[in-house]
Amino acid sequence: GLKIATIGGGSSYTPELIEGFIKRYDELPVSEIWLVDIEEGQEKLNIVGNLAKRMIAKAGLPIDIHLTLDRAAALKDADFVTTQFRVGLLDARAKDERIPLKYGVLGQETNGPGGLFKGLRTIPVILDICKDMEELCPDAWLINFTNPAGMVTEAVLRYANIDKVVGLCNVPIGMEMAVAELLEVDHSRIRIDFAGLNHMVYGLDVYLDGVSVKDQVIKMVTALDDNSFVKNIHGFGWEPEFLKAINVILCPYHNYYYKSREMFEKVKQEAEAEGTRAEVVQKLEKELFELYKDPNLDIKPLQLEKRGGAYYSDAAVRLISSIYNDKRDIQPVNTRNNGAIASIPDESAVEISCVITKDGPKPIAVGDLPVPVRGLVQQIKSFERVAAEAAVTGDRNLAVLALTINPLVASDTLAKQIVDDMLEAHKKYLPQF
Ligand code: NAD
Ligand code: G6P
Ligand code: MN
Ligand code: MN
Repeated sequence: GLKIATIGGGSSYTPELIEGFIKRYDELPVSEIWLVDIEEGQEKLNIVGNLAKRMIAKAGLPIDIHLTLDRAAALKDADFVTTQFRVGLLDARAKDERIPLKYGVLGQETNGPGGLFKGLRTIPVILDICKDMEELCPDAWLINFTNPAGMVTEAVLRYANIDKVVGLCNVPIGMEMAVAELLEVDHSRIRIDFAGLNHMVYGLDVYLDGVSVKDQVIKMVTALDDNSFVKNIHGFGWEPEFLKAINVILCPYHNYYYKSREMFEKVKQEAEAEGTRAEVVQKLEKELFELYKDPNLDIKPLQLEKRGGAYYSDAAVRLISSIYNDKRDIQPVNTRNNGAIASIPDESAVEISCVITKDGPKPIAVGDLPVPVRGLVQQIKSFERVAAEAAVTGDRNLAVLALTINPLVASDTLAKQIVDDMLEAHKKYLPQF
């Protein structure tokens, strides 16, 4: 059977992943799942790992769950390595969210300064994991869920000696689910042609049973007063003029770019009223882990749906299954562009609909992106590339440059101040600087 290694196994999302493997056991014969964490996460690992064992026992499947702090033991001869770790845990995320607000800049997990710093902390760790994989499981696939997933995939493609990497986000599958709900049809009948970057992905067309329903969907989206369907973003309505003219399906993260002012105010007010998203999630996580401790619990609790990562397991396990079974179905993932989007370099990571084969995702070429979206996608890709280079080199100038070219930061002076403040706040997790 297959050996899976999951790095960041103490994540509260682990029951979600385990449920995915249970549901697809018929097509994906997993025999071992190794949940790896670090000392800081050991308590969480034990609690959620024991729940995972109860879930497997209840399902009556011959899957061994191993809980370990020994990454090498977990990676040895693994077939698939999934990553869901958070360097610095939620305390670091709270800083990513709070510090920029002082400067009048959005504080968010994967966008603007927060996204930059999460990347700076994460990229050295993922590259280290890749080095271990070269040695311990050179044929394994790396399925990365760790944010910022686009920047992290970019860094692996450019700086690691690993070709078999796929970045994964639940937003595209969530967009298909949301469209299915609007049209009141089963989601299996909906397909969106995705192209763009992680958290900057566009639906270029959308089909019901293979027939385009884009005009109808855009009309329906225009009528919504909350355009976001992920639990971590509370959106607004789009202006009908804008939506009609741009003529694509937007993702929730576009709110930060096309509604920057309103989103900044909203995020700031929420931080003052109930805490930043990380602070809210810290409470939620406590509740979840209390539930997970219950020795009678042997399924994924519903409360996990309050987290932003809904459908993660579906996305992850259907991807692994399609690689393993050479299914050649279409799934949106982060992969090497290889010319699929004309305005992005071949070797860069893009989030795009792909045919999933045993040799990995084959992106479906879209040519050039429509003019109204092309520039922003290129700009964010430049941000991700410069940020990844800053993470690898520890060059503070590059960190300032990355933040200055980010559309959410309006000045180089502001960028420099925020970078200095955040380098100091996060120095424990930024040994390269
Ligand atoms: P979390 O704070 O619970 O962290 C998960 C685990 O990672 C913790 O148990 C922690 O101890 C461990 N960890 C930290 N550093 C580690 C290291 N160097 N090696 C191994 N383990 C380490 O995080 P979470 O809220 O469950 O989220 C996990 C990750 O998934 C985050 O990076 C988050 O941004 C990401 N995420 C991605 C998506 C997506 O769409 N791609 C959606 C949701 C969450
Ligand atoms: C969304 C995104 C993730 C993000 C998450 C945050 O689903 O796709 O990339 O990390 O939500 O959720 P949280 O519950 O941690 O705020
Ligand atoms: Mn995501
Ligand atoms: Mn700028």
